[in-house]
This record gives sequence, C-alpha cells and structure tokens, in this order.
Amino acid sequence: MEEINASVDFDKRLAHEDLAGSKAHARMLAACGIISEADGTAIVRGLEEIEAEIAAGHFEFKRSLEDVHLNIENRLAEKIGPVAGRLHTARSRNDQVATDFRLWVRGACDRATAGLKVLQQVLLELAAAHADTIMPGFTHMQPAQPVTFGHHCLAYVEMFARDRDRFVHCARRLNECPLGAAALAGTPYPIDRTMTATALGFDGPARNSLDAVAARDFALDYLAAAAIAATHLSRLGEEIVIWTTPGFGFLRLSDAFSTGSSIMPQKRNPDAAELVRAKSGRILGSFVGLATVIKGLALAYAKDLQEDKEAVFSAADALELCLAAMAGMLSDVTVVPEQMRKAAEAGFPTATDLADWCVRELSIPFREAHHIAGAIVKRAEEMGVALAELPLSQMQAVEARIDARIYDVLTLEASVTARRSFGGSAPEQVRNQIAYWRGKLS
Ligand code: ARG
Repeated sequence: MEEINASVDFDKRLAHEDLAGSKAHARMLAACGIISEADGTAIVRGLEEIEAEIAAGHFEFKRSLEDVHLNIENRLAEKIGPVAGRLHTARSRNDQVATDFRLWVRGACDRATAGLKVLQQVLLELAAAHADTIMPGFTHMQPAQPVTFGHHCLAYVEMFARDRDRFVHCARRLNECPLGAAALAGTPYPIDRTMTATALGFDGPARNSLDAVAARDFALDYLAAAAIAATHLSRLGEEIVIWTTPGFGFLRLSDAFSTGSSIMPQKRNPDAAELVRAKSGRILGSFVGLATVIKGLALAYAKDLQEDKEAVFSAADALELCLAAMAGMLSDVTVVPEQMRKAAEAGFPTATDLADWCVRELSIPFREAHHIAGAIVKRAEEMGVALAELPLSQMQAVEARIDARIYDVLTLEASVTARRSFGGSAPEQVRNQIAYWRGKLS
C-alpha cells in the first residue's frame, strides 16, 4: 500500500508552497478567532523552523508519512506538541494540495516566461548580426526564395513571444485560491478566504468548493503551453541538426555544445539540439497523460489527482532545461554566411522574381508569367547555369519581350531587398522588426 500510495518522493518539491499555505492558513485561523493568537504564533514559528530545516537539507521526509503535507504536519507536532493539530482546522489535504500545486505551477509559469525571454534575446542578437546574411528560404525543405538569416531568427522570436503569452495567461487564469474549500464542500468555521488568498498572492478565493479541489485544468493549461513551446523548440532543434551537417554547414556549434563520437574522430554531433527535439515528446506526453488521468474523474477529489504532479514536474524540468540549452547553444554558435549563400544560389531561387518582373513590366497575368519563368528555369537547368547567367537570347526564346533589365531582379540581393512588404525578408524590414523586438524585450 505504501509503495503505491506514498507521494512524498516527488511531492516534497511542494514543501515551500505547502509551508506558505499553512502559514497563511494559521494566521487566518487566529485572526478569525478560530484558534488562539498564541497557538497561531506557535504554529507559524514551528513552520518557519521547518522551513529552515528543509532549506538546510536537514529535514527527513518519510515515506511512511505518505506525502509532503503529512510529513510537515508530523514534524510540526514533534516540535510544538498537540497544538500542531489545530492547523488542520477548516481545511483538508484536498484544498491544501490544490493550493500548493497552483502556487508551484504559477512559479513554473514565471520561470518558463523568463527562460523564453532569454532565448528570444539570444535570437534577436543573432538576427541583428545577420539582418543582411542571405540564406535559402525553404518550403517543402526545397529551396524556395532567398531570405536572410536574421529574418529566420525573428520567426522564432515571434513563436517564443506567443509561448510566453500562453504562460502569462496560464498564471493569470490559475490565480484563484482553493484554500478553504476544505475536503469538497466548504467548512462550517467562520474563515476568511479572502485573507488567505491575498496572503498567497492570489487574486481572490475560488468561487466553487467542488471546482476548487477537483480542477486541474491549470496543470493542463501549463502542460499545453509547455507542449506548444516544446514543439517550437523541437523545430529549432531540428533545424540546428540539419544546418550543422556538412551538407548544409550553415552553422557550427561550439565545442562546448557539440559532442564527439566514441569511434569516429571527425564527428561533431549536435546532441543538445537532438535532445531538445526529443524532449518535446516527454512534454507533450505529460499533457496527454494527465488529460487522460483527469478525463474520467467524477467530482470532486480522487486520488488519481495525485498523478498530476509528476507530469508537471517532469515537463517543467525538461522545458526549463531545453530553454537553457537552446539559449546556450545559440549564444555560442558560429554562423557560416558563405555556406548559406552557396545554398541560396542553388535551385533557381529567383524564379519568382523573374515571373514578377514579367507581370510588372510586361503586364502579363501572373499565371502566365509563372509558366514563362518555369520554361526559362528549364533552359537554365539544361545549360547548367544560374538564372542570372542565362543569356538573354535564351529568355527571349521563351518570351520575346523580355529585355536586359531582367538581370536587375535575378540576383539574390535584388530578390531579398525587393521583399519590402511589411513583415517581409528585406533587410530594411528585418531591421524594423529588430527595433520592435528590442523595445519589447528591453
Ligand atoms: N498526496 C495527495 C495528492 O497529491 C494529497 C491529497 C490527499 N487527499 C486525500 N483525500 N487522500 O493528491
């Protein structure tokens, strides 16, 4: 029974929140005259001593005492005697754990938000250094149109901004205090729920006692936000893996962030990027796992809910590690513009510019221009030359009205610079966005 029932091995991570909740509760009980001032003071003092024991690593958590709540209460009794038993007046472990866990998740939201911001800042600096660095932009992983590396970095800055926003909203939504809901129905004692809620930094007490002890959507909210952020991190991890292969060579990881092979001396493996990519599985798995635990539960509390913590702890640990690893990796990375440029030259990336020129200068409908450009690309391909190197006569054989001005739009620079539409890849647009994010992230 102890083996399956005890949660202290993992829920001891709630000790800090549990002590904060208990101190707020004891103070409230005394203020409302439910326990005496003297008892309230003794309880709070005892809890503070326990806090110091835990901080110093002297506290012995015992499995036989099941969970963090009973471990702390038991220690309090050892310290101050039977008065400790008054702490559990007008509460239950059900509202206690729900409160502790909300506080913990609130802290995790703040850490995720901060970690995301650091990563955004690293990406922003890369973007600023590479607002003009041309690389191939891809669709279907085929070279599509040239973009700049700065523009690519800013795409992730945008994604991570939305991720931050999800954590901010998660922290706001969860900020109602379950304490005082007691086991499930509320309590006959004349408690002041607003007092405890305020003391713990909540916006107010949760309005429905059943919901207060049964709800774990705050944990799902966190895990959903974490899963989406992890998905973004994983895409970036995947790009780092691809871009550090010799075939691409767009990036070179520092020695600190690459590993060797035990048998192949030439290897520089992007293990951290791969693990970031992989850990998204664990994080999404945590969401799916906990949603599955909760979906079949009749109201209010059931012990199934004890399984909420490992899912969130595991996801939070993974997410925070991934954010730190990604920020470390990218602040240490070497960008190789020559390789990016070489790749950008392959695959006729200015074919769209050719079509656009026909639309603009010859008033040809875009669909037809697309066809013309396609036929010209075919000739360039057959001759083994880039579009900018294809003789005018070859182009005129496809469309007689094309003249030498066409060469102005066929270079990579011309193509990138032309994409000046708001949010486009032109260096001037990229610099505008960099200025925007500098303001936002300062
Ligand atoms: N360790 C328990 C949990 O995490 C605390 C609540 C126990 N409540 C109960 N009625 N047995 O869910």
